[in-house]
Amino acid sequence: MLHGDVIAHRGASGYAPENTLPAFYKAHALGVRWVEFDVQLTADDALVVFHDATLERTTNGQGKVAQTDSCQLSRLDAGGWFAPQYAKERIPSLAAVVDCLAECQLAANVELKPTQDNAVKLAYQVERFLQQQWPKTLPPPVISSYCQKALHALFHLNPRRRLGLLYEQSDWLRWAKHLRVVSIHKVADTFSYDDIRHYQTFGYPLVAGIVNDASVARQLLDWGVAGLFSDSPDPLPLP
Ligand code: G3P
Ligand code: MG
Repeated sequence: MLHGDVIAHRGASGYAPENTLPAFYKAHALGVRWVEFDVQLTADDALVVFHDATLERTTNGQGKVAQTDSCQLSRLDAGGWFAPQYAKERIPSLAAVVDCLAECQLAANVELKPTQDNAVKLAYQVERFLQQQWPKTLPPPVISSYCQKALHALFHLNPRRRLGLLYEQSDWLRWAKHLRVVSIHKVADTFSYDDIRHYQTFGYPLVAGIVNDASVARQLLDWGVAGLFSDSPDPLPLP
C-alpha cells in the first residue's frame, strides 16, 4: 500500500514520452517504487497504455484510440513528439508495460480511461488480464478511475480489488463507501492541510498531484498524504 510514496505519473513523463516503456524504465532508474499509467480499449478490444482519447497530441496518428485497431496503433510513433530520439517508441500494450514492471519490480496504479460507451467492457478486460497475466512477483495494483461506472463494474467482478477513486464530484464519499476504495486520488493546483485532513477524517488516504516541486512535496508528505503523483520524481523525497 502507499505510504508517502512518490508515484511516477504516466511513468517519468517529465523525462521520456508519457506512458511509453522508456518512461517506466526511467522511473525505475530514478529510484521510484510506484508508477501510474492509463489503460484504454482499442477497437479490437485490446488493452493499451495511453492517456488521451485521441491520437493527435502524442503520436503521428489521427482519430480515436477506441476506434482504431491495435495493429494500426502499434505502427504509430508515440515518442517523436517528445524528442527525436524517441521516434521509434510505440504505444505499449498493457502486457508490455506489466512485463517492464515485473522486470523493474515497480508497483502500479492503473487508471482506467473508458469512453462513454465501453466502461463495463474495459473493466471486464482489465479484470481478466489481472487474473490471467498479473505477475505474482508484483503487489496487486491499485485501480483508479474518474469513471464510477468502470470502478463499479470492476468491483462487481472482483470485490477484493484495491480501488482508488479519482475525485471529481461532490458525492465522492458515497462512491468511496460503495466501492470500498482504499484511497482518494485528486489532481489540483494546490492542496491545504485541511484538504488532506478532510479525507483522513473519513478514513481515506489522499493521493495528490501533480507535484514536481520538492518543497511542495515535503510539505504535503509532512501533512500526511499517502502518495504524490509526479512527472519529474527525482528532486522529490524518494525513499
Ligand atoms: O491518476 C492520476 C492522474 O493521472 C489523473 O489524471 O489526466 O493525468 O490521467 P490524468
Ligand atoms: Mg492518469
